[in-house]
Amino acid sequence: MDAITALSSRRSYPVLTDPAPGQEDLHTILSAAAAGPDHGRHRPSRFVLVSGPGREAFGDVLAEAYRKACAERGEEPDPAAEARERAKPMRAPAIVAVVCVAGADEKVPREERIAASAAATENLLVAATALGYGAMWRTGAAARDPHVKAALGLAPGDDIVALVYLGSIPVDQRTPPAHRELDGLARTWPGP
Ligand SMILES: Cc1cc2nc3c(=O)[nH]c(=O)nc-3n(C[C@H](O)[C@H](O)[C@H](O)COP(=O)(O)O)c2cc1C
Repeated sequence: MDAITALSSRRSYPVLTDPAPGQEDLHTILSAAAAGPDHGRHRPSRFVLVSGPGREAFGDVLAEAYRKACAERGEEPDPAAEARERAKPMRAPAIVAVVCVAGADEKVPREERIAASAAATENLLVAATALGYGAMWRTGAAARDPHVKAALGLAPGDDIVALVYLGSIPVDQRTPPAHRELDGLARTWPGP
């Protein structure tokens, strides 16, 4: 698939099926992600793969994070909400957490490091599309949760920029993506 087709046909798939990308495809996808631009060549992005049975363990982490967040708010956990958290990682055969590691550099502020990890994430999504896989960029409360960060081996100051759900596109969802119009989003300056 050529680059423009991959870029313009990328779309999100909330539910993905087996198979996940194999080792070779995963290497291609993550290498594309790592090739994203970054200010200062700090290479702030890290990629943490959760797949197979690891997803169940990650579901336990999400459920525990939910319970802890409830306790901190002085709320009783809702068993249905907890079950939803536990089931989230099963929406795809693989998840890649894209992490922006904390760093101190006056010339490259935190938002630019995070922008670099966002660029890496988009590269990841487009590379997956180009190889025929489906993906979806998710975050939510889990991405900001200290318990989740610790469980993934991250430092408290690291940012989970994306939880990219990755897998094969279900047969019944292989419809052409809706055409996205540029209308109204671009202009020339200083104008006519
Ligand atoms: C930073 C970021 C975080 C996102 N987090 C979520 C999320 O937690 N849950 C969700 O349903 N969509 C989330 N999205 C949106 C989807 O990834 C997706 O882009 C959106 O639903 C539009 O669909 P499309 O990608 O097919 O255009 C997020 C997107 C971005 C850029």
